[in-house]
Amino acid sequence: MKVIITENYEEMSKKAAEVVVELLKQKPQCVLGLATGSTPIGLYQNLIKAYKDGIVSFDGVTSANLDEYVGLYKEHVQSYAYFMRTNLFDHVDIKTENLNIPDGSKKDLEAECARYSAFLQSNPQDLQVLGIGSNGHIGFNEPGTPFDSKTHLVNLTESTKKDNSRLFDSIDEVPTQAVTMGIAEIMKSKKILILASGENKANAVYQTVKGEISESCPASVLQNHPDCILIADKAAAKLL
Ligand code: GLP
Repeated sequence: MKVIITENYEEMSKKAAEVVVELLKQKPQCVLGLATGSTPIGLYQNLIKAYKDGIVSFDGVTSANLDEYVGLYKEHVQSYAYFMRTNLFDHVDIKTENLNIPDGSKKDLEAECARYSAFLQSNPQDLQVLGIGSNGHIGFNEPGTPFDSKTHLVNLTESTKKDNSRLFDSIDEVPTQAVTMGIAEIMKSKKILILASGENKANAVYQTVKGEISESCPASVLQNHPDCILIADKAAAKLL
């Protein structure tokens, strides 16, 4: 794993954007795996700027998002579909028909997981962007998730609900389940870019880079990936 430590969040976001811009230039028809959460927002702002400055186009890009809450419709302001529209898709020239995200509002969630796995099977990511949970989760693959997992339904841990409750009115409003791309499907991406910012990620970053490869820290599996870049700001990297 290549580790880049930056002074702050802004520099982390800029460096991350350089990686994505390079891919968009080299392969305009790429499959781009995307993540939600506060961490990649700065990356997306840099990508919007690169698009507005005429440096890149998303016209040929197929997106593949990591995860979605169960029970939230696409229009719900807390849904990840809404997050992606407002933080990236509405501001660039990506085609609506090329946007892919699991649909957590489906009645038959098992069928939805199978549909999303089949999509990933025929559209493997050229690059997968990841954030990291303070417990080391990637996507919504919580500690204990098997490394060979495909898209599946998860029960969110109390710690994840607590972390994510800052974006809801109260913890009781945080959905208890989500649909997430599996670890095996994340690992199949040709390249992986994982971002971490802030002191509350320091332990997870340490376990990811220096810890033993174990299902107790899902992100530690990335040590096995042939082309993974971790960009962490100083606070997140403080235990390295
Ligand atoms: C959620 C998402 C993850 C994300 C994590 C960290 O749980 N499912 O994909 O990496 O939050 O979020 P943040 O970047 O806001 O710390």
